[in-house]
Amino acid sequence: MTGPLWYACGEDTIPAGEDWLAALERERLAQIRFTKRRTEFLLRRAVGKRAVAAVLSLGDDPATCGRIGMLNHPSGAPYVVLDGAVLDLEVSLTDRAGHAVALIRPAGSQARGPVGIDLELVEERTIGFVEDFLTAGEAAWVRARGQVAVDANLLWSAKEAALKVLKVGLRADTRSVEVRVQDSVGPDGWAALEVVQGESGATFPGWWRRDGHFVLTVVTTHPDGPPQALPGNGNLAAAEPIHSWLAEPVVRPAGPN
Ligand SMILES: CC(C)(COP(=O)(O)OP(=O)(O)OC[C@H]1O[C@@H](n2cnc3c(N)ncnc32)[C@H](O)[C@@H]1OP(=O)(O)O)[C@@H](O)C(=O)NCCC(=O)NCCS
Repeated sequence: MTGPLWYACGEDTIPAGEDWLAALERERLAQIRFTKRRTEFLLRRAVGKRAVAAVLSLGDDPATCGRIGMLNHPSGAPYVVLDGAVLDLEVSLTDRAGHAVALIRPAGSQARGPVGIDLELVEERTIGFVEDFLTAGEAAWVRARGQVAVDANLLWSAKEAALKVLKVGLRADTRSVEVRVQDSVGPDGWAALEVVQGESGATFPGWWRRDGHFVLTVVTTHPDGPPQALPGNGNLAAAEPIHSWLAEPVVRPAGPN
C-alpha cells in the first residue's frame, strides 16, 4: 500500500511578493492584520503549493504557484484548484512555530476519503491540560508513561488530525475521539496509531513521528501505508522553532512611511 504524500518546509522559504498567490488567496491575505496569522496563512499556502506542484510534476516558480490555489470550504477544510478548476485530490495542511507540513492523497489512490495532518511542538503541558482535553483513558496512559511533554502533544496532535478528517476541527470536543498509539517505529520514522470516535465507534488509522522539537501525526479514513516524503521535503528533524511574529505582531498598513 502506498501511503499519502507529505512535504515540509519552514517560513524562511515563503516566496517574496504576492505573484505566487491565486487571486482569492490575495484577497484573504489583505484581510489579515496580525503578523502571526498572516505568516501562518502564507506558510500553509507555500507548503501546500509546493506539495501539489511535486505531485503533479509542475515547477514551483511563482507563476506556476499562482495557478494553484489552496482554498477553503466554509467549514475551513482545504481544497485545491489549478487554473480555477478543483483538483481531485485530498489535502490537509498544518503549521507550528514557523514550520508547516502538507499531506496529499492523489486521485486514483487505493485508499479513498479525507486525510488529516497536524504538527505540534514537544512542549510542556500542564496536568490541567491533560485532564481537560484528553479522555480519562488517555490521561491515565500519559500519567503512567511519565513523559507528558511528548505524549500529551502526541495525543492532542492526533486528535486534531482526526478532527480534520471529520472536517469539524476544534468545533468538536477533543474527548469525542480517543487515540491509541503504538511505539514500534518503522525504518522511515513512522509508527502506527488509531483514533476511535466515541459515539459512532468508527476507527481511523494513522501514523505519527517524532522529529526533533516536533511531533507530527497523520490520520486517514481507511488503512493505508505510512506517508511517503515528496521530493524536496524539508528536514523537520533539524528544524528549530521560529517565532518571528513577536518582532512585529501587527501588520503595518501599506503606504508611505
Ligand atoms: C482545524 C483546526 C483545529 C486547526 O487549527 P490549528 O491546529 O491551530 O492549525 P493548523 O495549522 O494545524 O491547521 C490549520 C489548517 O487546518 C485546516 N482546517 C481548518 N478547518 C478545518 C476543518 N474543519 N476540517 C479540516 N481541515 C481544516 C485548514 O487548511 C487550515 O489552514 P488554512 O486555513 O490556511 O487552509 C482549527 O482551525 C479549527 O478548529 N477550525 C474549525 C473551526 C473554525 O474556526 N473555522 C473557521 C471557519 S473558516
